[in-house]
Amino acid sequence: MLNPEVVKLLNEQINKEFYSAYLYMDMANYYADQSLNGYENWFFVQMQEERDHALLFRQYILNNGETVTLSAIDGPNGSYENFREPLVKSLEHEQFVTASIHAIYEAAYRHKDFRTMQFLDWFIKEQGEEEKNADDNIKKYDLFASDPKGLYMLDNEMKTRIYIAPSLVL
Ligand code: FEO
Repeated sequence: MLNPEVVKLLNEQINKEFYSAYLYMDMANYYADQSLNGYENWFFVQMQEERDHALLFRQYILNNGETVTLSAIDGPNGSYENFREPLVKSLEHEQFVTASIHAIYEAAYRHKDFRTMQFLDWFIKEQGEEEKNADDNIKKYDLFASDPKGLYMLDNEMKTRIYIAPSLVL
């Protein structure tokens, strides 16, 4: 049995991860509309990873005999001023998710819930990688996308990202 405060935060995290999936699908759709299919691919893969994160939280709650409660998922904004804006928004979003994961960790620590702390270790590492990827996307865009050829090559690089199922096994 887990502490009710921790269970509440874990359930809220399911919603945040599904919202992340929505947000990244929205960004993939935006790039598809702009015929930047490499960026579309990159964000579509990201969407799949976020869905997996939501499912990992669901499974962890169930594995501990607790109840999963699902709440409404907000719709993403859907409009972007330029190709760079989703890249900046995705970094800001990952920083928000990192803070959220840290808040669960802090609650688990307070309640001496070592099992949940161990479960969250994977996500803490993952968030470090996700923030770095999002930051790299902005830096590469700023370095190479100022002319059409550079953008074309960068878009081709983004096309090479492939979906890999999460390494965390519950
Ligand atoms: Fe599941 Fe990108 O955080």
